[in-house]
Amino acid sequence: MPQLIEKRRSLNKEINLQLQQNKELEARLAKLQALANLGTISAIVAHEINNILMPLGNYAQVALNNPTDLPLTEKALQKTVHNSARASEILESMLAVVNGEAVEKRQCRLKQLVEEVFSCIGREFEKDSLKLKIQIPDELDITAVPVQMQQVLMNLILNAREAMMPSGGTLQINARRQQDTVIIEVSDTGCGIQQENMDKLFEPFFTTKTPEGPAARVGSGLGLVFCKEIVGSHGGAISVESKPNQGTKFIITLPI
Ligand SMILES: Nc1ncnc2c1ncn2[C@@H]1O[C@H](COP(=O)(O)OP(=O)(O)O)[C@@H](O)[C@H]1O
Ligand SMILES: [Mg+2]
Repeated sequence: MPQLIEKRRSLNKEINLQLQQNKELEARLAKLQALANLGTISAIVAHEINNILMPLGNYAQVALNNPTDLPLTEKALQKTVHNSARASEILESMLAVVNGEAVEKRQCRLKQLVEEVFSCIGREFEKDSLKLKIQIPDELDITAVPVQMQQVLMNLILNAREAMMPSGGTLQINARRQQDTVIIEVSDTGCGIQQENMDKLFEPFFTTKTPEGPAARVGSGLGLVFCKEIVGSHGGAISVESKPNQGTKFIITLPI
């Protein structure tokens, strides 16, 4: 009998030790997870800022190359100023997210947000044989952190553009109110998405873009991760429909 009691004691001790170790492992795992998240967030911020910096450099170059064409120089400089203000707005809002602050959502006109995104992309779509169709009711409002929703739209638009390179196609942005939601659709007539990739699109670092491909760059695989994260933080959802060689449609649903 005393032997049995002794055995039970030692088993209990063993269990407690294991539990303690488990707790320590869990705490370490949580720390690693936080670090990994931070790594992803930094990569995403770098990716977003890069999206803005590229046209910004181009505008400055236009101004430098045409010092005697005053109206052109002025326009290019205005765009440069506008874009750098936007870049710092984005950084600010992202820093707030990283620090866990609540960024304020407000009512904003969707049409205006979309127009600003295009002025920010800075490349005329017709030059790439791309047709643009925008159908957004003038009065349609969404409740959002404007700069974040613009980043989402910018990512979808840049992806659509790259999917239609080099032969061109049509980019369509539609939005409508449906009961208590606003539905925004960004469609393209580009390369489409292979069935086996459909489940991977929103995974961090998943990309099919290589320097040899039509986008002529290595993808970061972070654009859609960012979109999902932001749309989620607005209480909405993002989904995708696609047919290889025909095109792709991203659908955002936001609560009003
Ligand atoms: N409109 C689209 N048409 C076709 N494929 C797309 C489209 N949008 C996204 N994808 C696919 O999803 C992948 C991930 O997109 P994203 O997260 O923006 O990263 P990246 O653009 O850096 O590759 C892309 O590499 C591409 O394979
Ligand atoms: Mg992308």
